[in-house]
Amino acid sequence: MTVPRTPPLTSRLPHVGTTIFTVMSALATELKAVNLGQGFPDFDCDPRLIDAVTAAMREGLNQYPPMAGVAPLRDAVAAKIETLYGRRYDPASEITITAGATQAILTAVLCCVHPGDEVIVLEPCYDSYAPNIELAGGTVVRVALTPRTFRPDFDAIAAALSPRTRAIIVNSPHNPGATVWTRAEMQQLAAILAPTDVLLISDEVYEHMVYDGLQHVSASSIPELAARAFVVSSFGKTYHVTGWKVGTVAAPAPLMAEFRKVHQFNVFTVNTPMQHGLARYMADPAPYLELPRFYARKRDLFLDGLAGTRLRPLHTAGTYFQCVDYSAVSGLPEADFCQWLTREVGVAAIPLSAFYEGGFEQGLARLCFAKKDETLRDALSRLARL
Ligand SMILES: Cc1ncc(COP(=O)(O)O)c(C=O)c1O
Repeated sequence: MTVPRTPPLTSRLPHVGTTIFTVMSALATELKAVNLGQGFPDFDCDPRLIDAVTAAMREGLNQYPPMAGVAPLRDAVAAKIETLYGRRYDPASEITITAGATQAILTAVLCCVHPGDEVIVLEPCYDSYAPNIELAGGTVVRVALTPRTFRPDFDAIAAALSPRTRAIIVNSPHNPGATVWTRAEMQQLAAILAPTDVLLISDEVYEHMVYDGLQHVSASSIPELAARAFVVSSFGKTYHVTGWKVGTVAAPAPLMAEFRKVHQFNVFTVNTPMQHGLARYMADPAPYLELPRFYARKRDLFLDGLAGTRLRPLHTAGTYFQCVDYSAVSGLPEADFCQWLTREVGVAAIPLSAFYEGGFEQGLARLCFAKKDETLRDALSRLARL
């Protein structure tokens, strides 16, 4: 009897393995370490948000929504962008609700990148960008942010542009560097792109986590950028619901029309009651307007504690990440250090090298402070033993 055979397949993503986030979270669980590795809160969202979604479910809002997202949520998103960033997007033709920012970015890449096109990413960067470009048949062009300060190097960006460049992906506030692009930097990007047809995918998922009086400068607030940009955000980050996977994209109508062609045959729609619940919850701007104060307090609590350790924190201007220099503690490469830290000290962290192709080493690890105060204190007391 012949044994049924699973046919072999040629991988579309031969270099992709299990991500470092999965590896470190699994190790943290196995060793009962405090998990400051993967970026998600260990506290719950506002019960009013749960109530709003529950009410939508009970009202029977449980069938397919319109492909682009339910109208109340698109209206709320357009109104928020207009109030905060000054650009009016038409909810009917310029806003789409996505299954998180990850799907939004993949869909943006798939709708505009053709085989052979080049897409610039600024390293260190979120790990989905490069595989997204490869899936579209594009070529990833990596430009380094300045090591340790993670500021954009505009000469290097300009030098990376070629006639084949189709898009650039920019992320501010920045994961993992915790920097926030200034208006001058966004304008410099606009000036470099002005003579080109290069599109911008602006990953702004941490838009509401900006500290010390700084302002998030959305691509939507700079007309020259907005005209060529897919502006991506995520409710997961803003409302402490990373598992819900609901995000948004705003783009000029001609770009959005192409985006929706891919979205339609990719997820088609995003779950209905969550969308209605989010739309109702957004009527109150306080939760996102108060987020900087909420997270700045956690950052400062964490920084105070880090002062009692041999880890040296870099500056966190935005996001819920804190990079630390561990060179006073260990000369290990970053991935080895993070494994060691998890095993021996009981705190899981992410090596910065994981955000670079080829694993650039700077003696840095990323910690996430989107945690209950008691979790942060537990981690700090362990780190103090270093
Ligand atoms: C820079 C960046 N972009 C996108 C995402 C993904 O967001 P979502 O969970 O909405 O897909 C993350 C999540 O960690 C991120 O850090």
